[in-house]
Amino acid sequence: MKLVYGSSSPLLGKKVAQELGIEPLEVEHRVFPDGEQYHRILGDFSGDDVVLINTTKPDSSLLETFFMLDALSSADSITLVIPYFAYSRQDKVFLEGEAVSARAIMKMLGEMTDRLITVDVHAPHIFEWYRGLGENILPSRSIAEKLSEMEIDFVLSPDKGALHRAKAVADIMKVPFDHLDKTRLSGTEVEMEEKALDVEGKKVAIVDDIISTGGTIARASEMLKRSGANEVYALCTHGLFIGPAIERLTRSTDGFMSTDTIESKYSEISVAGEIASSLKE
Ligand code: R5P
Repeated sequence: MKLVYGSSSPLLGKKVAQELGIEPLEVEHRVFPDGEQYHRILGDFSGDDVVLINTTKPDSSLLETFFMLDALSSADSITLVIPYFAYSRQDKVFLEGEAVSARAIMKMLGEMTDRLITVDVHAPHIFEWYRGLGENILPSRSIAEKLSEMEIDFVLSPDKGALHRAKAVADIMKVPFDHLDKTRLSGTEVEMEEKALDVEGKKVAIVDDIISTGGTIARASEMLKRSGANEVYALCTHGLFIGPAIERLTRSTDGFMSTDTIESKYSEISVAGEIASSLKE
């Protein structure tokens, strides 16, 4: 197996390569004077099974991923690992005439890859538009290990739809869990239904797939504090941390972190082990 990573996942790409005991292929990335991208994958991979790892955010990385897949077309098989699948939230037609962005991307990836692995993708049903072998990994074990180290004794999901994630983590840790009910008011504001939570004196972790503007976590954390929680931490798979997010999280929690699907200084948990296990199968 050969492995190569794109410019949005350098640290995670190296960690997965280490876990697999292989040396990643070198890549030459350049930008032409007019801003267009150039990518050349070095080394011999013709006829091999090749893995490409790249988060598809920002948009330039989505484009880079398509170009790198094209560069790999002489491989025998291509497995693409997308740690953070951008546009996964545009997974249906909300208003007539809209593009279903996730579908458009899935169709194109189906033309260029044999297998696709995502990590905690927002809407797993988008795989119905992918024609290869698809798999979505939930990094519950890595998240549970971190929260156990922190001696968290209660796990909260900020909305019912995300309960399966919080439950999977809480079950591994053998701690209680619960969920809130959230209504989104706008792109940056959410409302939580008031709920009495059994968290008096507890050290609680809110577990979500994405932290974007931090509105969800801020509201959930305020409710936990009102219910008597002693300390509140926020943990997500994908840390977008947009606009007011850092200020909101700093103000409302005792700490926050993400995995390395989107690499940042808050990436305290790695999903490399889970990705490597899946690739070994
Ligand atoms: C929404 O369904 C997701 O699971 C997250 O809860 C959401 O993306 C978080 O957004 P924000 O941080 O802007 O509240």
